[in-house]
Amino acid sequence: MSFKDNKEYGKIRVKDITLSPATLKDAFIMSRLYLRAFEHDPNRAIPFPRCVGMSGETYIRAAQMNKAKDLSMDIVSTDIVLKAMVQFENEDRKLLEALAGFAHWTSPDGPRKRTIWEWILSTIVFPICNFFSPIGDTPAETKRQIKELFQNQLNATFGPGGKAYNRRYWHLRTICVDPDWQGFGIGNKLLKWSFDKAAESDSVVYLETSPMGLNFYLAKGFQITTSLPAIEINGIHFSAPGMIWMPTLPQEK
Ligand SMILES: CC(C)(COP(=O)(O)OP(=O)(O)OC[C@H]1O[C@@H](n2cnc3c(N)ncnc32)[C@H](O)[C@@H]1OP(=O)(O)O)[C@@H](O)C(=O)NCCC(=O)NCCS
Repeated sequence: MSFKDNKEYGKIRVKDITLSPATLKDAFIMSRLYLRAFEHDPNRAIPFPRCVGMSGETYIRAAQMNKAKDLSMDIVSTDIVLKAMVQFENEDRKLLEALAGFAHWTSPDGPRKRTIWEWILSTIVFPICNFFSPIGDTPAETKRQIKELFQNQLNATFGPGGKAYNRRYWHLRTICVDPDWQGFGIGNKLLKWSFDKAAESDSVVYLETSPMGLNFYLAKGFQITTSLPAIEINGIHFSAPGMIWMPTLPQEK
C-alpha cells in the first residue's frame, strides 16, 4: 500500500483495516461521522428520524449535540453494526488508529436481542429525553407515508413476481465512511462483509438507497428492484429506490 493524502493527517500509509462490532462507546464518534458523510444528501434535508418505519423507535441524543435531528438509535439498539478501524502510519512513521466508517445491517434472522443497557437506554432514557426535547418534527401522516413506501419497496422486491421473490435477505441500513477517509477501500471492505455473508447463507443483500448512494451501489453490482414514485415533503422529493445484490444475479428478460 502506498502513501495517500488524508485531510486530517496529511500523507499516510494505510497498514490495515479491521471490522469489529461497534459498542455504545463508539456511538458519539459514529454519529458525528454519519452527519459528516451525509451532509450533502438531499434526503437528509427532510426533518424526520432517518429510520422511521424501520426498526428504530428511539433516537440518539448525540444528534442534538451535532445540531441535527435525524440520527437513529438503531446503531446501538438492534441489529449488527460493524465499525471499521484503520491502522495507518503518518509521514513520521508513527503508527496511529482511527474509527473511519461503519455499516449497519439487519440479518435475515431479524434483530439481535438487546443488552440490558441498550434496553434501559432505548425504552427509558431516550423516550424521556425525547419528550423534553423532541427529535423529528415530521407530522404523523408523513411518517406513515414514508413507512408505507419502504414496506411497498420490500413487498415488490420479495413478493410474488419480485426480483428476489422469497429470498432471505441482509438489509443494509447504513454504510458510511468519514469524508477524510473515503477512497481508501473502507466502503469496499464493509460491503464485502455482507456479500460474503449473503453468499454463505444463500441470501441476498437488500437496501433502499438515497440519491447520493445510487451510483456507488450500481458500480458495486446492485440492481434496482423497485423505484416507487417519490413522496413530496415540504417541497422536497423523497425517493429511496429498492436495490439488491445477489450472489448470482437473475438474467434480465
Ligand atoms: C459511498 C462510500 C460508503 C464509499 O466508501 P469508500 O471507503 O470511499 O469506498 P472505497 O474506497 O472502498 O471504494 C469503493 C468503490 O466504489 C467506488 N465509489 C465510491 N464512491 C462512489 C460513487 N459515489 N459513485 C460510484 N462509485 C463510487 C470507488 O471508486 C471504488 O471502486 P473500486 O472498488 O472499483 O475501486 C463513502 O463514499 C460514503 O460514506 N459516502 C457518503 C455516504 C453514502 O453515500 N453512503 C452510501 C449511500 S447510503
